[in-house]
Amino acid sequence: MNLLNQENAAATIRFVYENESGVTDFEGKASGITARYEDDKPVVYAGLGKNKEDLFVFADAATEAVRRVKRLKKTSVEICLPQSVQRYAEIAVEAAVMADYAFDGYLSEKPVKIEDLYLRDRENELDWDKLHEAKTVAEAVNYARNLSNENAAVVTPEYLAQEARNIAATCENMSLEILDDGEIREKNLNLLWAVGKGSATPPRLAIVSYRGDKESNGACALVGKGLTFDSGGLNLKSAGSIETMKHDMSGAASVLGVLKAASVLKPKVNFIAAIPAAQSAIGKDAFFVGDVYRSYSGKTVEVLNTDAEGRLILADTFEYLIANYKPTEIIDLATLTGAIVIALGDTIAGMFSNNDELAQKIFEAGERTGERLWRMPIRQEHRDAIKSEIADVLNTSTIKRSASSITAAAFLEKFAADTPWCHIDIAGTSWNDGAAKGVRPKYATGFGVRLLWDYIVPRP
Ligand code: BES
Ligand code: ZN
Ligand code: ZN
Repeated sequence: MNLLNQENAAATIRFVYENESGVTDFEGKASGITARYEDDKPVVYAGLGKNKEDLFVFADAATEAVRRVKRLKKTSVEICLPQSVQRYAEIAVEAAVMADYAFDGYLSEKPVKIEDLYLRDRENELDWDKLHEAKTVAEAVNYARNLSNENAAVVTPEYLAQEARNIAATCENMSLEILDDGEIREKNLNLLWAVGKGSATPPRLAIVSYRGDKESNGACALVGKGLTFDSGGLNLKSAGSIETMKHDMSGAASVLGVLKAASVLKPKVNFIAAIPAAQSAIGKDAFFVGDVYRSYSGKTVEVLNTDAEGRLILADTFEYLIANYKPTEIIDLATLTGAIVIALGDTIAGMFSNNDELAQKIFEAGERTGERLWRMPIRQEHRDAIKSEIADVLNTSTIKRSASSITAAAFLEKFAADTPWCHIDIAGTSWNDGAAKGVRPKYATGFGVRLLWDYIVPRP
């Protein structure tokens, strides 16, 4: 999509506040939308409701309006900003790029693409570099969506590792380490190995270090859960919960998205992207329920449920990173528990942390980007609920009515040890089973790319 400071697009989008619309029979309520023809050109009016401060009503309205333009089969659109403020312009760009997304590789008839986006900068007050950054980050969101939506038979652990390789190869600030199945076994990442060993497509661990700030040595680690299909293992998932499990690598997809944006924008920061990738299968080599497995640094885990596999691959990755990369902090993005969907639905992600300052900063990044989070507690009773009598820890609690999102976090907390850590459970937010609504398309949403970008690349 080209970003242009011009007029004469094939369609125009205007925004109106409630009761101030001036458009006949259109009130301007939030999420209201109407298309009119003026001089034979479509003008799409999108309502913003009464609240003039809510940027994310604007983001949703802009997304819906661009979708309407696409349905009218126009390939260029001008967005008239409701307020001439840089942040509105950035959100308009993000919204247009994200609205243009379609998982169309398997469609015989492809939807229209928006080729040109026009924003008028009459007073010369917009920072166009920042607008191009917004565009690149939104393209990275679409990239993450594609990875999550793509078939599990295509997106294998090796495929995710290859994506990391491809991105790293385009950027001189990036260095790469990929552990294949042999190295995962040799180096004793036994939990990652256990989860992935039943599959015909063996596990990988991809780690890319990005160094954009040569003056500083510290780097925060972003870890994305990369289950390319979660069958549940021997605790096989049943109909009703297995259908969407190709997207159990959405955390990995979003971390790769951030990496991809960094490879283009080259921000002056350091970070590490780590992708533990495995496919959890059933079969003669599948790992066993009830067995004890030893983590990279030697902690023993009694596996009471093979479907609680995400925490296993994250645990080995945390320990490997801490021992070999010494990250200043670890942030993991993971489709970890069904229970977080019950707790917070599909628009708010669950956040858990051992560090109040880090949690607050990430919370604020959520408020700035609209990728919202709510912090959940971890207390002693949750740590107690995963005590094992034959190993250092259980991978699931035996207590009925245990808060399973929290006990999952309590498990991860043990492996983060003293490193400041923040876990973001995106099981709800990374996928939309319903119809497209605002910035959330149907199926993969790419949640986390904008959030993590905002966190690692501070605004001036
Ligand atoms: N990948 C699932 C969690 C999930 C559920 C992601 C729904 C996206 C949508 C995870 O590996 C899992 O199976 N979790 C179990 C844990 C349980 C066995 C303690 C769950 O949440 O049921
Ligand atoms: Zn599972
Ligand atoms: Zn899973």
